[in-house]
Amino acid sequence: MQLWKGRFKKELSKTTNDFNSSISFDSRMYREDIEGSIAHATMLGECGIIKKSEAEHIVEGLRGILADIDSGALNFDMEAEDIHTFIEGELTKRIGDDGKRLHTSRSRNDQVALDNKLYLKKQVVYIRGQVEELIGVIADKADQYADTVMPGYTHLQRAQPITFGHHLLAYAEMLLRDISRLDDCLKRMDEMPLGSCALAGTTYPIDRTITQKLLGFDRITNNSLDGVSDRDYCIEFASVLSIIMVHLSRFSEEIIMWCSWEFKFIELDDAFSTGSSIMPQKKNPDIAELVRGKSGRVFGDTMTLLTVMKGIALAYNKDMQEDKEAIFDAVDTVKMCLTAFTPMLDTMRVIPENMRKAAAGGFINATDVADWLTKNGVPFRDAYKATGELVARCIELGTDLESLPLDEYKKVCDVFTDDVYNAISLEYCVSQRTAFGGPAPENVKAQAKRVKDIID
Ligand code: ARG
Repeated sequence: MQLWKGRFKKELSKTTNDFNSSISFDSRMYREDIEGSIAHATMLGECGIIKKSEAEHIVEGLRGILADIDSGALNFDMEAEDIHTFIEGELTKRIGDDGKRLHTSRSRNDQVALDNKLYLKKQVVYIRGQVEELIGVIADKADQYADTVMPGYTHLQRAQPITFGHHLLAYAEMLLRDISRLDDCLKRMDEMPLGSCALAGTTYPIDRTITQKLLGFDRITNNSLDGVSDRDYCIEFASVLSIIMVHLSRFSEEIIMWCSWEFKFIELDDAFSTGSSIMPQKKNPDIAELVRGKSGRVFGDTMTLLTVMKGIALAYNKDMQEDKEAIFDAVDTVKMCLTAFTPMLDTMRVIPENMRKAAAGGFINATDVADWLTKNGVPFRDAYKATGELVARCIELGTDLESLPLDEYKKVCDVFTDDVYNAISLEYCVSQRTAFGGPAPENVKAQAKRVKDIID
């Protein structure tokens, strides 16, 4: 069914109609479409563009349609061109000629932009809540494992001792930035396009502030061409979602590594693991792998939106109908990933002994040996070289810095005393890293509390 039949002599072919139709994916905006139409009809009534009684009749009809879709009494007509066409057609079917007045001073161009923004605003808020929930789980775990020593890595080589709580809080920081990006995105999205009409505004004496207030927008768009042709809010939201997926994907990668027998720093709960159809011993971190894999979809959606928008002349072009599947897919994917990821993290079993064991190999306290020398008057570069020689000697003797005898230390540099052994115990190394932002247990406790306070 089309709204624009007047100038056409022939029916649209079935294949063209199917190709052109968006109802299979834009029907999810039915609530927003109806809310938008109720506000629009109310405004038309208040401004005297249609009679108040007509407006009331329309609003009543629309409420009935909403109730019937919600209850399942009314199904979408998949032959309809889009959700806007379907609801307007259904309204006229139900209330007769007054239904035909609804579209006065409106176009599907400002209507679709409105619906999309109303829908996506809710999604931003929902995802923000999910990210907050994940941050809460991270902060609780960080507090619990504030003094659990583990190796910190660079180049995936053991580098310096840190605490597991500190490692986890790095992700809380990323996700807090994501929250602030979502907030920014919402602020910019919060501009109502309705009243831009097809592209050139209207000659009717509309009052856009009435619809703005009824629909809960912060402000109205300033330019009718931009109002109907702007999809920055989709691109920006998809970009923020992509960054969220980068963070979830990196976290997933670490979880996958930590679950391997080579690390065994953690074990995932059975409820969040899967087995193999052939290898009976397997317990696979499929959920984390899927989250890592699904990041590709969201990046792809962002690229779709950028590409759809980059070459279209102002104002509306049908290309823009392609915005919805991309942004909806990005939204659905991120929601699904967060729904699975947060409880997976919450229920993981942490194995501190294995983290401690891994931290004890690989000379991760070598910097602390050099620092000890420096604090005892040796210039850092000389201390660095001396420690390098000590590491080489340890490798020769098959031992580590903690067990290397003092006379070996003294052979390399006579400043060394017994004291060095205390300074290089891993717990001590970590406890001394109290400079703001560092992994010392007291810092981690304080940061976990800070993070919790932010999201509470
Ligand atoms: N289904 C269309 C979309 O999603 C609605 C706007 C149609 N406007 C038009 N001038 N054909 O973009």
